[in-house]
Amino acid sequence: MPVTISSIAHFVPQDIFPNSYFEDKVETSDEWIQSRTGIKERRFLMDGELSDMLLPAVQQCLSERGIGPEEIDCVIVATITPDNRFPSASATLQHKAGMINAWGYDLSAACSGFLYALMSGVGLIDSGTCKKVLVCGGDKMSSILNFNDRTTCILFGDGGGVALLERTEDKAIGIQDSILRMDGKGGQYLYMSDHGDGAKAPFEKYPEEVKEHYVIQDGQSVFKSAVVGMADVSAEIMERNNLTSDDIAWLVPHQANLRIIDATARRMGLDPSKVIINIDKFGNTTAGTIPICLSELHHEGKLKYGDKVILASFGAGFTWGSILLTWGIKS
Ligand code: UT7
Repeated sequence: MPVTISSIAHFVPQDIFPNSYFEDKVETSDEWIQSRTGIKERRFLMDGELSDMLLPAVQQCLSERGIGPEEIDCVIVATITPDNRFPSASATLQHKAGMINAWGYDLSAACSGFLYALMSGVGLIDSGTCKKVLVCGGDKMSSILNFNDRTTCILFGDGGGVALLERTEDKAIGIQDSILRMDGKGGQYLYMSDHGDGAKAPFEKYPEEVKEHYVIQDGQSVFKSAVVGMADVSAEIMERNNLTSDDIAWLVPHQANLRIIDATARRMGLDPSKVIINIDKFGNTTAGTIPICLSELHHEGKLKYGDKVILASFGAGFTWGSILLTWGIKS
């Protein structure tokens, strides 16, 4: 029996920060940000942590499925910004949401976190270990941004989404195929050092002036790899499943840069109307982008039962991948 997404929800903070917010902080402009990235505004969480964003999404996700939190067997949180280094965000969320029968863990794969977590959840169900797995992806990127660095601070936002995974008897739907990739050589181009703790960076070795405890990115190097990586796996998953662009209802890509998304869609031969874009509203929410896009599409009534969807991501690591699924929630 296939494993399918049986419910989905998302949360974004209410406080909106347009591009103009950055104009008196760093040397930038609304025109530069929009033309180079596609971003118009993003949301930042003013009060609270990652688990405070994921909690309402968990509650909505479970309520729309009509089940209680005690029915969840496992909760996986894909994030690079957990509330604390430990305990895990999954443990915090498990407690806050009352998922008293769930175990769980955090998964660190940056922008590909939701895809990695989704396939981990499928594996847990396929192996018979779990029946209902809650897969969360989200980040409070504002907590790790250097607001003096114009090359990174304008790119990101806060938010997250939650998908419930379970078996279905309906063989026409579910998660059908995945390609997940990683290349640690890319680590030098997008990273955040772990000062203050950890074996690599004991506190006393890092004087105050060495500040790498925020996102550091060589944008062009990441861009070049992302354009190739995301397009490659998206085209490959179509080919090996004998799908043409007509068969695909939606591409749900990671929202890092409109130009990367356009390149992927072109390579797949997809009409732009089939490509989901919300980077203009939310920026790059790292592990949050794909579940937020899916949830918006579903709740707007656009995602129909039987739609073939390709999810695609590229991010720090480097990590990247694509997932092919047939949507199974009847709206
Ligand atoms: O989600 C995780 C994975 N991340 C990504 O996929 C991001 C990939 N990279 C990108 O999306 C793009 O590389 C960026 C949006 C980060 C940058 O765009 P770019 O077209 O690659 O610009 P660039 O880095 O080549 O910079 C062009 C110029 C530079 O000035 P000079 O050297 O030409 O004088 C930058 O200093 O733009 C300058 N610049 C800015 N100017 C105004 C960089 N950031 C800004 C800014 N405002 N915010």
